[in-house]
Amino acid sequence: MAVILEFDESIAHAVGSALGGSSTVLTDASQLPPHVAATGDPLVVIGPSVDAAVAARVTAATIEAQPIAGIIWLRRRVDTSTVLEAIRAGASDVVGESDLPALVAAADRVLGRANTVATATGDPAAVGATPRGTVTAVFASKGGCGKTSIATNLACLLSSEGQKRVAILDLDLESGDVQLLMSLPRGRSILDVAALGSGVDTGSLAACMSAHSSGTYVLPAPRRPEEAAGISPQLVSRAVELAASMFDHVIIDCPPYATEHVLSVLDIADHLALVCTPDAASVKNTAIALEMFDELNFKGHISLMINHAGDKVGITTSDISEALNYPVTCEIPTSLDLPLATNSGRILTLTHPRHPITTALRDWSTLINPPLAEAVTAQAQKKTVPAQRKHRFFSKRVATS
Ligand SMILES: Nc1ncnc2c1ncn2[C@@H]1O[C@H](COP(=O)(O)OP(=O)(O)OP(=O)(O)O)[C@@H](O)[C@H]1O
Ligand SMILES: [Mg+2]
Repeated sequence: MAVILEFDESIAHAVGSALGGSSTVLTDASQLPPHVAATGDPLVVIGPSVDAAVAARVTAATIEAQPIAGIIWLRRRVDTSTVLEAIRAGASDVVGESDLPALVAAADRVLGRANTVATATGDPAAVGATPRGTVTAVFASKGGCGKTSIATNLACLLSSEGQKRVAILDLDLESGDVQLLMSLPRGRSILDVAALGSGVDTGSLAACMSAHSSGTYVLPAPRRPEEAAGISPQLVSRAVELAASMFDHVIIDCPPYATEHVLSVLDIADHLALVCTPDAASVKNTAIALEMFDELNFKGHISLMINHAGDKVGITTSDISEALNYPVTCEIPTSLDLPLATNSGRILTLTHPRHPITTALRDWSTLINPPLAEAVTAQAQKKTVPAQRKHRFFSKRVATS
């Protein structure tokens, strides 16, 4: 299961014991890539006696030979330059030599990710037979409306209660915070997917995702805003299509404006959760967004969600619905329990299954995750009615204000 590259026998033994199960110890770095390619072992630990330059070379070669391999570096010193070198080479994690609990946690993350890849890609016949997952974009044309809170809580709800395979993609490329809100350690991101170029496939996409304890898989945004420039709309479309072939639901957390990347996602999204709050600016911007989506022939798939619904601020849900001439399908109340959960590293829908916010999201989620009987009927209809080709608007640039 695990492969350990380490020249010191006693260190190799200690690492093997910490990981448990069976492991193979190699003492020749050149053997690592062909060994991993041949066995498909998902976990590799490169020990502290392996020189950093050799570790970088062999990491890159191993990932080239087996893209889903997760490689952990055990280092005598873990400083910024070591971490950067490891990340550049494609390693999943860097852990201090004596920090065996951290090694075990890193190994668990690698193996969790490998399991998803196996589920998604292991049986080609099964994958072919699996219907494409639904793609839901959570969008608002104003910042701070609650998009990320809704996207993350919805994804975890579908994953835990719905027992669905769920992925969440952070499309807020310049300031995405899905990874932070889900308390995930920094791992790979969509930037690593971009680095794979046209070679990206389901295995390498899954290898760039991080697993949340709810079972949700996360493709984080780049860490730094300037890195967003390296991600093309085409790459985003490709990543979303691949994710839809691997997961039952793909939830996309959008930035607060209609970028080309958002438009490329809307081309392939099945649902758009349009979030509005009871304030004049949000209502005005939502009206403009609705006009834009109407022009783009996307109206039939839009759900209008009111976050902070019921706040006594002089604008009610029915005022909003009337002003926008659009039905409201979800009302999420204000509750300090939400930021309280987020700030303590928890997801409200997981910790508070009966909370009014959880109930609102659960009720709404039946739109994208219908009960089994309805899903079977919908699937049968899909087979008999030729799919209407949606208007494609990837190349259009549209401003919402
Ligand atoms: N229903 C709610 N009740 C209480 N607080 C909420 C609610 N919805 C969102 N918040 C809080 O509002 C803040 C903004 O939420 P969030 O980050 O989800 O918005 P966003 O639309 O993703 O913002 P941005 O445009 O910056 O990405 C957070 O502190 C969040 O906890
Ligand atoms: Mg956000």
